[in-house]
Amino acid sequence: TRHYRIAVIPGDGIGKEVVPEGVRILEAAAETFGFRLDLQHHAFGSCDYYAEHGTMLPANWKELLTPTDAIFFGAVGWPATVPDHVSLWGSLLQFRREFDQYVNLRPVRLMPGVPCPLAGREPGDIDFYVVRENTEGEYSSVGGTMYPGTEREIVIQETVMSRHGVDRILKFAFDLAQSRPKKHLTSATKSNGIAITMPYWDQRVEAMGERYPEVRRDKYHIDILTAHFVLNPDRFDVVVGSNLFGDILSDLGPACTGTIGIAPSANINPEGRFPSLFEPVHGSAPDIAGQGIANPVGQIWTAAMMLEHLGEVEAAHAIVAAIETALRDPASRTRDLKGTATTREAAEAVLRAFAAG
Ligand code: NAD
Ligand code: IPM
Ligand code: MN
Repeated sequence: TRHYRIAVIPGDGIGKEVVPEGVRILEAAAETFGFRLDLQHHAFGSCDYYAEHGTMLPANWKELLTPTDAIFFGAVGWPATVPDHVSLWGSLLQFRREFDQYVNLRPVRLMPGVPCPLAGREPGDIDFYVVRENTEGEYSSVGGTMYPGTEREIVIQETVMSRHGVDRILKFAFDLAQSRPKKHLTSATKSNGIAITMPYWDQRVEAMGERYPEVRRDKYHIDILTAHFVLNPDRFDVVVGSNLFGDILSDLGPACTGTIGIAPSANINPEGRFPSLFEPVHGSAPDIAGQGIANPVGQIWTAAMMLEHLGEVEAAHAIVAAIETALRDPASRTRDLKGTATTREAAEAVLRAFAAG
């Protein structure tokens, strides 16, 4: 039988509440679709682990995670005890870099029955992907502080765009656009103001675009692009952006479909040399952690993305269908969707729909 080794890392805050619900759907899917899961649960990659060990990860984390088929991740960050840049650069951002997960794929879809905060939008009107560059760009380690603590203090952090890094994310995005009915790619840029790296990005988009004559392409500066996300979300099919632009767009997009609480993401190493990592778009949500009210759908949809990546396409589709069924019922929606369901109740509704489907 098909057999997958999965590292499970819940992390902090609501990560610890939604990951168990994601695991439940994974186990149900394994049972129904006849594959086996070897789940390896890890407490590292959390601020609790940091409090005990002074680091986010054990020294042998690569040896532990490299042989897995995928990493199922919750969320990291507890700024009350550990500064965010310490916890994130000590865990998630390390995984993305060291496992060369250069694609961050983040679907944005208005689900049937979910109240849309944008007037007059129907399911089908909003259905696109944000493809985010995930290993370089604005998230660089190049820079530093000069004359620290003095009036002359200067802080610099350079944006890094390598031809290899830009071209490989663009190729992924164009391939995805090519595979979709609309065959439309939008590039997020800011080449009017950021006058060195962003014109370079535009130039590489043009060069890559010539290899995809069937894909219609356009570009918007990031400022007006955010406006179009709100005013004309039906315009988009595949939106590709640098690390920071992709980060911003992938919270804005899901918010336009009702909540960031349902949004999944895949941090992919497409060549399969390293494990890919699957996590919801949202963070650890300290403001609601511990109350049992977090929306589990982002984590559950993430489970579907992971199964699709592993080749369990039927199971993945069944999970997404179950999410759609559950979300149609207002009683199955959590507070971020104006419902009253708890995390457990919302997840139970998806599990029931999965079992019935
Ligand atoms: P956040 O995504 O954690 O929360 C933003 C807002 O959305 C909060 O009001 C929160 O309650 C709400 N929200 C998020 N997920 C929800 C869900 N599933 N159901 C209902 N409501 C939900 O972002 P933030 O507040 O900027 O960050 C909090 C912490 O999480 C920080 O430490 C940050 O660095 C970290 N973070 C981690 C990741 C990650 O691990 N991938 C992503 C984003 C933020
Ligand atoms: C995300 C998060 C991370 C990012 C943070 C927590 C470093 O916002 O996964 O979108 O900026 O990539
Ligand atoms: Mn983000």
